[in-house]
Amino acid sequence: MASSRLLHLLALFIGAELVSARHSDPHIEHALKKRATTLIPDTVFSSQDELEEYFDYNYPWGDTHNGAALMSSAQVTIIDDAYLQLEAVYTGTQADNSALSYNSGTIYAKQYFTVEANGGLDFQANFVAPVAEGCWPAFWLDGVNSWPPEIDLAEWKGDGKISFNTFNTSSIVAAQDYTYSTPTTAWHTILVELRPESDDSTLKADFYINGDLMTTQYGAEMVGQPFYMIIDYQMLGSSGTSGPTENTYFDVQYLSVTSYNP
Ligand SMILES: *[C@@H]1O[C@H](CO)[C@@H](O)[C@H](O)[C@H]1NC(C)=O
Repeated sequence: MASSRLLHLLALFIGAELVSARHSDPHIEHALKKRATTLIPDTVFSSQDELEEYFDYNYPWGDTHNGAALMSSAQVTIIDDAYLQLEAVYTGTQADNSALSYNSGTIYAKQYFTVEANGGLDFQANFVAPVAEGCWPAFWLDGVNSWPPEIDLAEWKGDGKISFNTFNTSSIVAAQDYTYSTPTTAWHTILVELRPESDDSTLKADFYINGDLMTTQYGAEMVGQPFYMIIDYQMLGSSGTSGPTENTYFDVQYLSVTSYNP
């Protein structure tokens, strides 16, 4: 009797330890949440003016990146004063660059994002994202000073799945894919919580879909590093060699970025 009770208590204790090891420490989280600061408000896609207050068009380095889409502001629209829409249009092989066969849209945040020691950042948004072959929408963080680091907060690579990835080097990558149901008929909420580990160097990333913790990844030497935040609707590249000839859309709603940095 006594020993089974002891075993039961031991099981509870081990269970509690496992839970606290896998989730953020509630006491630390409670303290962090008290100093929440909004870096990008969830009204950012309520008008073109709001969008342009926080974002620039194309990539930090130009209008192409590893795929077949030429990016321009013409493909970026705010719909119903409520959400961002990036539209990919098939053009056939483009005269100026034979690697390109789509026009599409990309935006990147004007500010950089850095997780500081004893701090943290939360990135959240709702997405309608095409997952057909050739469609490569993504919401990602890219090192300002070098590549890698990279954290793919959400990436869809034309295979019906969503990918979460953290790059320590170009070949050492934590990568997890999940089936992405009803991609174009329902909004799905993605939340990624970035927190520093106690070594003040390793970054911990918790990835959630619709409130469910899907995976936790760790990035080396990412605390204190500035990141670009990019939302792009690239085509072909990592998502396959043939894509849609009809127009397709990547929609983003209620994007917000919250800082808990000291
Ligand atoms: C990346 O580095 C972190 C910190 O050292 C480590 O915890 C993680 O396992 C590494 N990722 C991979 C895929 O090896």
